[in-house]
Amino acid sequence: MTEKTEIVVGKDETLKKRHIGTGTFVATERMRELINEALDSGRIAYGPLSQQFERDFSGLHGCKYGILSNSGTSSLHVALQALKEIHNWDDWDEVIVPSLTFVATINIVFHNRMKPVFVDVEPQTYGIDAALMNLAVTERTRAVIPVHLFGQITICNCFFR
Ligand SMILES: Cc1ncc(COP(=O)(O)O)c(C=O)c1O
Repeated sequence: MTEKTEIVVGKDETLKKRHIGTGTFVATERMRELINEALDSGRIAYGPLSQQFERDFSGLHGCKYGILSNSGTSSLHVALQALKEIHNWDDWDEVIVPSLTFVATINIVFHNRMKPVFVDVEPQTYGIDAALMNLAVTERTRAVIPVHLFGQITICNCFFR
């Protein structure tokens, strides 16, 4: 990647731009404080800190509820499962996924008895190619999972209804 991506983070922190590395991680003082707070609380399973996080996170996204999960995989799994149930999608209905992503994107589609349909990505963002995606839409397409890789935002102009 030749260009660095910048994002603006934080509600309570001073708004500042940060570079997102790939495969690197720097724990800030604040992160260390929070981890110590959790360790000192004597509770590392679901509890008050988790519930506070759910409230803060859902508030940041303008949502009434937020549910904390143990991993990205289980979050994706539950999200698709909920959509399938709410909208009454059939087994093996289609979910469009980028051809460049982590394997969890595909696993959770299979785990929900749905069919992943691969669409190539754009070389600039590594995100799903919107034009190709629209060509992949069929009568059985129910959802798209546009993965934002390496801190790059996928510009996903989706025309399907
Ligand atoms: C794009 C993407 N989706 C999902 C996951 C799965 O996250 P987790 O390892 O927390 O289950 C990863 C993990 O690297 C990922 O890169």
